[in-house]
Amino acid sequence: MLKVRDIKVNYGKSKIINGMSFDIHTGDKLVIIGRNGVGKTTLLKSVVGLLPLVQGSIDFFDQDISTTSTHDRSRLGIAYVPQGREIIPYLTVEENLELGGYAHRNNSDDLKQKVLTYFPALREHLKRKGGVLSGGQQQQLAIGRALMSSPKILLLDEPTEGIQPNIVAEIANILNRIREEMSITIVIVEQNLKFALKIAEKFIVIQKGEIVVQGKTNELSQEIINSYLTI
Ligand SMILES: Nc1ncnc2c1ncn2[C@@H]1O[C@H](COP(=O)(O)OP(=O)(O)OP(=O)(O)O)[C@@H](O)[C@H]1O
Ligand SMILES: [Mg+2]
Repeated sequence: MLKVRDIKVNYGKSKIINGMSFDIHTGDKLVIIGRNGVGKTTLLKSVVGLLPLVQGSIDFFDQDISTTSTHDRSRLGIAYVPQGREIIPYLTVEENLELGGYAHRNNSDDLKQKVLTYFPALREHLKRKGGVLSGGQQQQLAIGRALMSSPKILLLDEPTEGIQPNIVAEIANILNRIREEMSITIVIVEQNLKFALKIAEKFIVIQKGEIVVQGKTNELSQEIINSYLTI
């Protein structure tokens, strides 16, 4: 569904992504791993269109989206849960959720109700401000907001960062259910390997803006983990 071909992305003169190619297939559960600062967030941002490519191309269902706006990529079915969640603190939980469907004129109550079945904690707090939720609840809200665009693929950037272990386990379960029940392809950037391995079947390891190893998670060796991750 998503073909990334030899992309390069810079911040000013700094070369952050130095020629990456990979494919994501419908139904994949992929984790992208790598130490701090290797370019994981930069990669996701370039896939959703928040950063321009200096070189290379991105195709989504055989359509070249390399220069398509973020808005239009969202309409095509690419949803993004940013690192740090980016909940709007002064809007209610319900308003934050509805923002996710806004670009799609897709504020059907049916979809909202369906999304809320995955997040009972959010349903209890619909009228509260997003800013008063716990970190774990805000993460669930960010995922719910992304689902409100009826995506085909969901990209999540470090969804467990700063979240209590019991909520981390709950988020893993929710993502697995979303993948099965809503047929949404899942891509997670994650440093919490235990969490990632509860979900992902494939992995990509990034170092200094390049893919250094990729494969199936059941082939992910201790040697790879020791070489490329901070444990
Ligand atoms: N807005 C920016 N302007 C300039 N350089 C940036 C900017 N954002 C990130 N960088 C640099 O780009 C490199 C890659 O950053 P990126 O955020 O993609 O890494 P990451 O793998 O997501 O790291 P982390 O695990 O800490 O989230 C880093 O060296 C970082 O300092
Ligand atoms: Mg990051």
